[in-house]
Amino acid sequence: MSHPVGNDLLAEVKRVTEALGAEDISTEEALEQFRVRYLGSKGLVKTYMEQMRHIPAEQKREYGQVVNALKQAAEERYQSAKAELEVKAEQASTAALDLTAPGEPLPLGARHPVAITLERIIAIFERIGFAVADGPEIEHDWYNFTAMNTPEDHPARDMQDTFYVVDAPGMLLRTHTSNVQARVMTTRKPPIRIIAPGRVYRNETISARSHAQFHQVEGLYVDEGVSFADMKQTLLYFAQEMFGAPKIRLRPSFFPFTEPSAEMDIWLGTDTEENRRLTKGTGWLEILGCGMVDPQVLENCGIDSSRYSGFAFGMGIERQALRLFNIPDIRLLFENDVRLLRQFASAF
Ligand code: PHE
Repeated sequence: MSHPVGNDLLAEVKRVTEALGAEDISTEEALEQFRVRYLGSKGLVKTYMEQMRHIPAEQKREYGQVVNALKQAAEERYQSAKAELEVKAEQASTAALDLTAPGEPLPLGARHPVAITLERIIAIFERIGFAVADGPEIEHDWYNFTAMNTPEDHPARDMQDTFYVVDAPGMLLRTHTSNVQARVMTTRKPPIRIIAPGRVYRNETISARSHAQFHQVEGLYVDEGVSFADMKQTLLYFAQEMFGAPKIRLRPSFFPFTEPSAEMDIWLGTDTEENRRLTKGTGWLEILGCGMVDPQVLENCGIDSSRYSGFAFGMGIERQALRLFNIPDIRLLFENDVRLLRQFASAF
């Protein structure tokens, strides 16, 4: 037995379900309209559900199934249309991407003023046969001090001047590049002709003129018959190449590892305000420490001091860089501020 109300509604829901496939859902707005029309809180599925109470008892089951089928079909259509729209949107954005357009320019790097200065020094010594040697920054006391003839009670060994590694007795941050002298002499045989650039550390208060971390270049030449005159000529050549200095002078000095020892000054003159300031009115600017390798140092490193002799020198890099590039404060060299570095993009 069938009822007109039940039959009509059943037929209508089936028709709506079949027609649903023909809906045009090609835009975001159409998708939303579809959702509201079929699945919204006042949508068709909900409305037909509510009609259930008008359906005669024996048709309720069939009616329920038909409305459920509508709901399912609407949901499926909604999901697939949504997915299609998403794919289309992604394709549209890829199409808008012009792969042939020029890229965002990357900022050009620049050499650090300390690196530029170091490289100039290295290049000068390489031209006369010195090879670059390397050594550790965290060093054993023996290489930094003992081998270099620095006695136990020397003030440089004091905690005030040297950073010691607390957990490793006998280890420290090297205070100079002279540790490389000992490293090289204990492992190679003369002739030895090396320069050793690198970082060194001293327990100093940081100011505009000095820093607890800085760079040095060490030089060492050991062979038969190496004399003080060889050292002087080598350093004169360096001063002329590096600074265009017309002359140098060697002032007597003291280092535990060289004997005799000297400090080398270059002649800047007193004709400009800047040169008078830099040289404190003398015309001479101190550049490096040097001397003949103390025979005891050669022996400490296993080199026969009756057969071989040598000279060594060591210089700081930062102050040369400050002067070379007119930088007023040493701390600027350690701040990694690209505004400083950018200025040296064409310094080579
Ligand atoms: N190591 C010395 C310093 O740090 C410099 C130096 C090196 C002097 C080699 C003489 C020979 O001051």
